[in-house]
Amino acid sequence: MNSASPMTDAAWAASKRNPVVGVFDSGFGGLTVLRALLPRIASANYIYLGDTARLPYGAKSQATIARYAVESARFLEERGCEYLVIACNTATALALEDIRRAVKVPVLGVIEPGVQAARRTIAEADGEVLVLATTATVQSHAYREACAAVGLRATEVACPLLVPLVEEGWTDHAVTREVLRIYLSEALRKCDPQAVLLGCTHYPLIAGAIEQTLRDLGSAAVVIDSAEATAEAAEAELATGMEAHAPGAEAKFECFATDSVEKFERLGSLFLRRSIGQVHLLDIGG
Ligand code: DGL
Repeated sequence: MNSASPMTDAAWAASKRNPVVGVFDSGFGGLTVLRALLPRIASANYIYLGDTARLPYGAKSQATIARYAVESARFLEERGCEYLVIACNTATALALEDIRRAVKVPVLGVIEPGVQAARRTIAEADGEVLVLATTATVQSHAYREACAAVGLRATEVACPLLVPLVEEGWTDHAVTREVLRIYLSEALRKCDPQAVLLGCTHYPLIAGAIEQTLRDLGSAAVVIDSAEATAEAAEAELATGMEAHAPGAEAKFECFATDSVEKFERLGSLFLRRSIGQVHLLDIGG
């Protein structure tokens, strides 16, 4: 297990039939991870926290991101979460160790599962991965290091325009396709990847457009959705001893946001692809 938990993985998992799972993101984007988790670990109860008041994290410094992420993780732990999924790539890249030190429960980040999925996808021992992510994630080189640890070469490219475009709901829009064409053609001049890792919560919503643009540019790279890979890793860690696939089990979730709950309810349904229900407003300071 990716955590500093004193309890062994098996003992911990076996003791939890209906764990309370906290999912944290800087905003709405992590709902792509929650969406992937819900059917996989259906017996869990989820608490989702989107730190929308302080979004975006992707352009902030390490110290600020770590402070924000630790406050949010502590809230989720105090609220009863027994397992935390840091759905935000930027928070994982810059604050995973700070979060692990700050809470007692096991913590899973998104980078490791995404990189492991890339490793499984690429047959060549020293294959090449293109990582698309926020500026802060790229500058941290967390993906490059994680890729190097499994023998993959990574080219990391910041795509700062994609988060605002997705948040605008422009997931199927000519402007988004043009922006993708520019980012990806520049990236493909630097590398010839076998896989493209979506290293940001928002990118799974435009995975189809990313794949199409790669094909248009002559690349056969496989697109890896780190939201799916993370849900798979969480399932592997949590499923032991649980009734994760109990017939009729339906996962319950509750959402908190640190800014406008109306906006969260509207955008959240887009990310979650289902009604998000009532969102609670949370004040965890500035
Ligand atoms: N959640 C962030 C990530 O996955 C994207 C949004 C932000 O910059 O806060 O990197």
